[in-house]
Amino acid sequence: MSWRATILTLFPGMFPGPLGTSLAGRGLERGLWSLEARDIREVTTDRHRTVDDTPFGGGAGMVLRPDVVDAACAAAMPEGEARPLVYLTPRGVPLRQSLVRELAAGPGLVLLCGRYEGVDQRVIEARGMIEVSIGDYVLSGGELAAMVLLDACVRLIPGVMGAAESAEEESFSATEGANLLEYPQYTRPAEWRGLRVPEVLLSGHHAEVARWRREQSEAVTRERRPDLLSEQRRDAAAQAPLHPAASPA
Ligand code: ADE
Repeated sequence: MSWRATILTLFPGMFPGPLGTSLAGRGLERGLWSLEARDIREVTTDRHRTVDDTPFGGGAGMVLRPDVVDAACAAAMPEGEARPLVYLTPRGVPLRQSLVRELAAGPGLVLLCGRYEGVDQRVIEARGMIEVSIGDYVLSGGELAAMVLLDACVRLIPGVMGAAESAEEESFSATEGANLLEYPQYTRPAEWRGLRVPEVLLSGHHAEVARWRREQSEAVTRERRPDLLSEQRRDAAAQAPLHPAASPA
């Protein structure tokens, strides 16, 4: 059975959107993964098809009701559903490649997209949702965040990327798995507007190219994302066997 994505949203018309094009879209057409967008409003039974209400305690905006969200989850997921249920929210844990890898390796995802001020916390907890954020900014809803998460997962599904690209990722990339930003890339012409490509890349010395790229990756990571370097050090420290000689004084 191929990797399955179910999206619970008030705007099912937003899907597949960009996921219907390019690599993800071709993967969809070839049945390497599937996508179903379900309208949360479909489960309502009242005349006004109400999905939200005002927040207890006061404040602006509207909150999605727990009974409505729970019914939408129940309708989309049979008892014993193996797929994790992810709620996209700026309050969530930050999305990282390690989580993407884990989710892509499973049977698929059920994604809940919030709108308004959010979702009643009781149903988030009762359903054991994984709360995920795609970054420290606030979108007008979870739909674009769900697309980002899906795109990141889908490109890891076997067969979605070309063989060349996936092979390169797994065995040759200097930065994959190293928690470093990518080195800069250059292509023809070797000179453009008087600007020459770094000579080492034209040298044919594979070991020197690899060293140069590693240095570039480390430099740009230090400059732009020192948090990744300290994380790398934390990881190294966590994995290193405790040894008296290695302990700081
Ligand atoms: N919904 C609104 N903003 C979001 C964000 N940054 N990440 C995930 N879901 C969101």
